[in-house]
Amino acid sequence: MADRDSRAGTRYYDPAILDYVEKVHAAHDAGLESAFTSPDRDKMPAIQVGKSEGRLLELLIRMVGARRAVEVGTLAGYSAIRIARALPADGRLWTIEVMSEHAEVARRNIAAAGLANKVEVVLGDAMAVLPDLEKHGPFDAVFIDADKERYDQYGRWAARALRPGGLLVGDNAFLFGNLLQDTPAGQAMRRFHEEAAAAFDSVCVPTPDGLLVGLKR
Ligand code: SAH
Ligand code: DHB
Ligand code: MG
Repeated sequence: MADRDSRAGTRYYDPAILDYVEKVHAAHDAGLESAFTSPDRDKMPAIQVGKSEGRLLELLIRMVGARRAVEVGTLAGYSAIRIARALPADGRLWTIEVMSEHAEVARRNIAAAGLANKVEVVLGDAMAVLPDLEKHGPFDAVFIDADKERYDQYGRWAARALRPGGLLVGDNAFLFGNLLQDTPAGQAMRRFHEEAAAAFDSVCVPTPDGLLVGLKR
């Protein structure tokens, strides 16, 4: 029926089902497991992407045949390992992290996963680092997962630095449920959505906190 919200039906949020599909499709080997559990061990916030989102990121990177990728927000390197594994042998990921403790832990986890030669953890504020990175572009993929009030600026940078057909992914696109609030972060995240929809073929996948996916036109 046209006036009925098709999303209002049964939702399958059974944790046992989520555990099952993660186990079947998104299982960890030692390197991924070590990076995934690192925040708890290494006194960092456990705010890495979920296992299925990490796996989706990996597959999306492969689907666009990405060789050069940029990540904004490294934390302990879990999503960086997912991305780097999807790149070819001569591929490269630049991942930006503002906290030196996080960058140090990430470098360790990335090296333990055997990816040190493919990944450069760049220490600094993304707003300062991104213009410098442009010389390595155009890029095939950009993953945004850092300070939410700057997603609009990161999205604009991605629209400029990606090749046509390049992949944009943004985590926390629901802004922890605050996307529609009139706060600076809410306004910035809505600009991110609207400008992405204008420059990319895009969708916001309703993961627990929303995952914006786009291909640059
Ligand atoms: N992508 C990671 C999680 C990132 S959490 C994963 O899924 O494994 C967000 C990270 O962004 C934190 O480590 C935080 O320190 C970093 N960050 C926040 N603001 C930043 C900025 N302006 N520049 C670079 N990194 C930033
Ligand atoms: C936070 C940041 C994230 O990127 C995330 O996925 C979850 C939480 C945070 O800053 O609290
Ligand atoms: Mg996130």
